[in-house]
Amino acid sequence: MWPFNKKQFLGIDIGTASIKLVQLSKKGNGFKLDTYGEFKVDNYLEYVKKENGVSYLKLIDEDIVRIIKFLLKESKAKSRIATMSLPTLSTLTTTINLPAMPSNELETAINFEAQKYIPIPIEEVILDPQFINTDEKTGNLEIFVAAFPKELIDNYSRISKLAGLKLKAFELETYSLIRALIYPAKDAMVLLDIGATSSNISIIDNGFIQITHNLDISGAMITEMITNSLGLEKKRAEELKIKEGIIGKEGEKEISKILDPLINFVISEVERVIDIYSKKSGHVIIKIILLGGSANIKGLAERFSDNLKIETIVADPFSKTYYVDSLDSILKEIGPSFSVAVGLAMKELITVKN
Ligand SMILES: Nc1ncnc2c1ncn2[C@@H]1O[C@H](COP(=O)(O)OP(=O)(O)OP(=O)(O)O)[C@@H](O)[C@H]1O
Ligand SMILES: [Mg+2]
Repeated sequence: MWPFNKKQFLGIDIGTASIKLVQLSKKGNGFKLDTYGEFKVDNYLEYVKKENGVSYLKLIDEDIVRIIKFLLKESKAKSRIATMSLPTLSTLTTTINLPAMPSNELETAINFEAQKYIPIPIEEVILDPQFINTDEKTGNLEIFVAAFPKELIDNYSRISKLAGLKLKAFELETYSLIRALIYPAKDAMVLLDIGATSSNISIIDNGFIQITHNLDISGAMITEMITNSLGLEKKRAEELKIKEGIIGKEGEKEISKILDPLINFVISEVERVIDIYSKKSGHVIIKIILLGGSANIKGLAERFSDNLKIETIVADPFSKTYYVDSLDSILKEIGPSFSVAVGLAMKELITVKN
């Protein structure tokens, strides 16, 4: 028999800056934070772009396994049932439209239609379709399809097995984020994830991904701009970035002067995506949620709300969980980079009865 408590679940997010682990259990109708852990790998993990255009996280099995085992031990996590995320950078996504049809024909139709938009052979991917919308009059279906390279899934499965985990599910990290940061709200919102290597902007409306788009900026790029402009070592540049941020009037402080062009570019990209979606749907975006470690750049949320006149907040996924008061300030600080891991741990719990 499986020896571990079936009401405690792990969420594990393998990022290029760090590997994060969260264990949640059920408390009433909500969640309780049992434990969490983070192991910084400091851009040791890299993405490698393949000929098919997909970027794979180059995972060195033995190292990741060792880190996960270490995190399980250090955090004293009792559960071994885990959900893992697949990075948006390694996933191909598309939205397809289909006419109304009997449900037993849907799978074939989705495979056929998705094939037209996904640049790798359909037998090399696993499709994860999510229904966005059914037209009330015509019955036409709008379906968001994520395609995960099988090679990547095999890699994660192998790692989980070697780490002694029972892997319940994989999911696109944006689904975890919706659960941790938006659910059950139905309003149109923007999720902007600025991680160490990759960034992603998604528009979520009615609880579904409507648009998702990778951005060519990252936390590492921000540090590099400071390194190059001031001729500093990377470590010192990273410290300055965290200490100074972009507070102060535009251009008033050195760091903010260096970073302004990049920050303005990100804001204009977000504005562009919002414009496209608002025109198409007629819906107003009510909130921008910043996440990923770089969401903590001092002054960033204010810059967004001042420029775009849309309420902008820094993600606080632990606010949906019960935890001891003394952890409050640390959880607020790490929340932006733990958002995916929290949403992953919630996945199985949502369906658990008390
Ligand atoms: N207070 C802060 N101010 C500015 N940047 C910060 C701060 N704290 C963390 N960061 C940056 O956040 C990044 C790490 O974020 P995160 O943990 O979300 O990355 P990751 O998920 O491991 O990366 P990826 O998803 O891109 O593989 C690093 O680039 C780090 O410099
Ligand atoms: Mg990440």
